[in-house]
Amino acid sequence: MPANAGIFHSNCTPNECDNMDQSAKKLNTAKASLEYIQDGMVLGVGTGSTVNILIDLLPAFRNKIEAVVSSSVETKARLEQHSFKVSLLNQVGDVDLYIDGADEATKHLHLIKGGGGALTREKVLAGAAHKFICIIDDSKLVSTLGTFPLPIEVIPMAQSFVARQLVKLRGHPIWRENFVTDNGNHILDVHNLTISNPLEMETQLNQLPGVITVGIFSHRPADILIIADDSGVRKIGQ
Ligand code: 5RP
Repeated sequence: MPANAGIFHSNCTPNECDNMDQSAKKLNTAKASLEYIQDGMVLGVGTGSTVNILIDLLPAFRNKIEAVVSSSVETKARLEQHSFKVSLLNQVGDVDLYIDGADEATKHLHLIKGGGGALTREKVLAGAAHKFICIIDDSKLVSTLGTFPLPIEVIPMAQSFVARQLVKLRGHPIWRENFVTDNGNHILDVHNLTISNPLEMETQLNQLPGVITVGIFSHRPADILIIADDSGVRKIGQ
């Protein structure tokens, strides 16, 4: 048993302290991504709790950032709280650097994204980006994608049809109730998928009529994965 077993901050339970550890890792991975911001860049900003920490660090880099583009309404609001003027992708052309989190990632830089429901705009920004940096804590690094239920954005009228096709592929789709994406669509979270070939599965699911976006990011993987663990951060990719 480690020497500090059972010792925790006086103002939190062991469980809460675990969460605090995860917050510290999120802060570390977000901080490590800042070194990639260079003068005059168009910066794309992802969505989620890890990215929220990044956004709170961005004001110190305001002078370097030429324009900022958001992957969601939520992120846009947080950027605006920090007095950033948020541009539309159509106004800026390509994105120099896109920074976002993920729900799962492999050492091959393939990802599952969409836990926050912003996968479509996230995939567009990743596709438009010259460099895509994914920031995660080590709990999200997996050998095979699929333990995290795969989010798929569908147009509402196709939801049941797409769900039936997913069952034929041995998935177990669950409709994300009371949730509408920024694009006015629905999300199916697909359980029970072992995604041993992400490229093939992303292609296959993209073919289903009514599917807007599949939360597998393998055809456009991250370029760099920054992983925060107990000992600091490490990077995969370049
Ligand atoms: C949102 C996403 C997020 O990147 C993903 O859900 C990770 O979020 P968090 O940093 O809160 O764990 O894909 O659609």
